[in-house]
Amino acid sequence: MAFVVAIDGPAGSGKGTITKLVAKDLNLVTVDTGAMYRCVTLECLNNNVNYTDLAGIEKILENIDIKFKKEGENQLVFLNGKDVSKEIRTFEIDNVVAKYAAVKIIRDKVAPIQREMGKTQNIIMEGRDIGTVIFPDADVKIYLDCSVEERANRRYKQDIEKGIKVTYEEVLKSIIERHKLETEREISPLVKADDAILVDSTNLTIPEVVEKIEDIIKSKMN
Ligand code: DC
Repeated sequence: MAFVVAIDGPAGSGKGTITKLVAKDLNLVTVDTGAMYRCVTLECLNNNVNYTDLAGIEKILENIDIKFKKEGENQLVFLNGKDVSKEIRTFEIDNVVAKYAAVKIIRDKVAPIQREMGKTQNIIMEGRDIGTVIFPDADVKIYLDCSVEERANRRYKQDIEKGIKVTYEEVLKSIIERHKLETEREISPLVKADDAILVDSTNLTIPEVVEKIEDIIKSKMN
């Protein structure tokens, strides 16, 4: 196995932003595992396959091809050859992806793909179950937490910047619902691994979180 950094934590804790910055500084390949669940969800929605329709999902999974491609500073996501980087981040996907991510056959399909990625390259992989299920022997495990109010606040600001019409209360409600689904599901629930280092980003700036995490990683690299 190459050098593996696992970063888990709830939606809105800053995992995506922090992971990109740390990867650039420390020359690691980023893997956004949430994007994979988003791709499967998008493909199911495009084919009118509900999260309860296991036969339909099985068919989708047989033919699905998900690839990451780096373009400059950005990492693009390709679903069956098409760039879906923007399409997988709509409010519609946000609202249903946790339901699809709780389906066992979907997780069983993406887990080996994720493990394979850590075999040949030094990676920083972010998700919900990376340190607990995907790489229980990761070289570094971080659990990035943040208060639910601050997570909703950040997501609300992002939505307003994107021109999406929502209220803070709506965003808070959606964050709370998703958190419940992710932490209470039977398979691979979001939980801090016993040996993960907890970093709370609630009252920290992005550079402060980056510095903290890079210090942790560097101490394990040598
Ligand atoms: O990180 P994100 O918001 O893009 O994740 C999308 C969804 O996928 C979210 O509901 C949590 C789920 N997910 C998961 O169950 N396991 C992972 N390793 C990553 C994401």
